[in-house]
Amino acid sequence: MPDQPKENIFLFVPNLIGYGRIILALVAFYYMPYDPIIGSICYITSGMLDAVDGYAARSLNQSSRVGAMLDQLTDRVGTCGLLMVLCMLYPRWAILFQISTALDITSHWIHFYSSTSLLKSASHKTVDYGSSILKLYYTSRPLLFFMCLGNETCYTMLYLCFFTPGPFVLPFLDMGLFDLLFFVSLPIAIAKSFCSWLQLKGAMCAIADVDVEERKQLKKE
Ligand SMILES: *[C@@H]1O[C@H](CO)[C@@H](O)[C@H](O)[C@H]1NC(C)=O
Ligand SMILES: *[C@@H]1O[C@H](CO)[C@@H](O)[C@H](O)[C@H]1NC(C)=O
Repeated sequence: MPDQPKENIFLFVPNLIGYGRIILALVAFYYMPYDPIIGSICYITSGMLDAVDGYAARSLNQSSRVGAMLDQLTDRVGTCGLLMVLCMLYPRWAILFQISTALDITSHWIHFYSSTSLLKSASHKTVDYGSSILKLYYTSRPLLFFMCLGNETCYTMLYLCFFTPGPFVLPFLDMGLFDLLFFVSLPIAIAKSFCSWLQLKGAMCAIADVDVEERKQLKKE
């Protein structure tokens, strides 16, 4: 049988979209400190393409490890970049953004580690931690989507509020649209941080169990 030409994973459509997301994020970060319109449009587009590339991967049968990795890294680095801008705009609150970044990176890192190399579960979102909140959080795609959307909205509105409260859509409310969306999505962002914390704790305990198991095996020998 003649050799099939080697597939070039780097040219898969979802991965091309992934490179576009990186470029958009870089443009967004360049403009963000002084041009909230270009800055937020590029940032939001980059975020929304995340859903598009997942969809493209499934419908074109072009899911790949490279794509999954690219996606994860773009998400982490993208949110980190936004938080750096927020630190600049709201220096007094920097500690909150630092904690948020720490939680984001550590929880994803440890979850990824414990679910791929260690516990060998099939997907990033199907580990059983025995915690019913987390179970619901990870098995219900709409819930996860809602939480991510709420969280992203909260941080994006916080960014926009620095420049303008937004249009006054409700005449009886002395609050712009961006202010309003910020306050509405704040509880969701707080809940999401709490879930990240549970996830971090759950993954740490799972790794500790593996340690205990391994030491028990070694003692027997
Ligand atoms: C996707 O691609 C794989 C590998 O090329 C193939 O085995 C599988 O049948 C394809 N699935 C669909 C739904 O086309
Ligand atoms: C919420 O979104 C921000 C900005 O994108 C991100 O930095 C943060 O890590 C997210 N928080 C959680 C708990 O996912």
